[in-house]
Amino acid sequence: MLVKFAVIAGSASKDLGKRIARRLKAPYVEAKTRVFPDGESKITFGRIPKNSVVLVVQSTYPPVDTNLLQTLSIISQARKAASKIYAIIPYMGYARQDRQFLSGEIVTMSIVAKMLEAAGAKKIIVVDIHSKTALNHFKIPKENVSAIPDLAKYFKKMKLKNALVVSPDTGGALRAKKFASLLNTDFITLKKSRNRKTGKVLIQSSKVDVHGKDLILVDDIISTGGSVIKATQFLKRQKCKRVFVACTHGLFIGDAERKIKKAGASQIISTNTIPRGTSKVDVSGVIAESIR
Ligand code: R5P
Repeated sequence: MLVKFAVIAGSASKDLGKRIARRLKAPYVEAKTRVFPDGESKITFGRIPKNSVVLVVQSTYPPVDTNLLQTLSIISQARKAASKIYAIIPYMGYARQDRQFLSGEIVTMSIVAKMLEAAGAKKIIVVDIHSKTALNHFKIPKENVSAIPDLAKYFKKMKLKNALVVSPDTGGALRAKKFASLLNTDFITLKKSRNRKTGKVLIQSSKVDVHGKDLILVDDIISTGGSVIKATQFLKRQKCKRVFVACTHGLFIGDAERKIKKAGASQIISTNTIPRGTSKVDVSGVIAESIR
């Protein structure tokens, strides 16, 4: 039986939602959001086509809790008309709080998963989620799609000579390996530590052979920019040629973008899981592909 889809996007992911709808040739249901002066959101949406699987698209970047509550509201209202709801949360806020690092910490990711399920989501689709552990908090079917092939395609077009992919930490080694293999180049991994109390980042690697090379520093999330700033400064000291910074989710809190450039990055590229000036890579194709 042919599945009928309809797409509703929250205010954080309108453009991406429309792109997904176009790719799936599915109707896009407009959701109008008004945020009151006290921060409460009021959402009104149009008629949902009967018996359709409704794809609710919304990244939960800052204001994280507002965007999350909007997502929950849209899902719980849409489920009344839909045959099924799939929650597409390209950037999943709270994914970095997927386990207890220090005693007494609340694992908020598990609360988020329970809320999305309680609202009525029957499947969850995310893009390059920070960890598989975060996704494991969901009991419903889940899918993590990767933006790395599309990011790599962007860099392939740049035809960089003598390129090397760099991960700022060992946790990103597999990502860097995949990126490098798509570009037919090598990769290295730096050693990074972060003080769990102050958030301060330190690059612990001593020496790497990057002399004269064009580096692509790839991470999943750039938040304050601390990790890529420290890594860029370190790589510049090792006399590399240029540093290109790439990530799936560009949060760029405060003036992170300016600080990354000041550290010596030639260009910063992210995807439209979070719409920014740096979002040169579109993930609607890979998301639509996972749904077809
Ligand atoms: C950490 O393990 C993540 O992969 C990112 O490296 C981190 O979240 C980036 O945060 P920030 O930009 O604040 O250093």
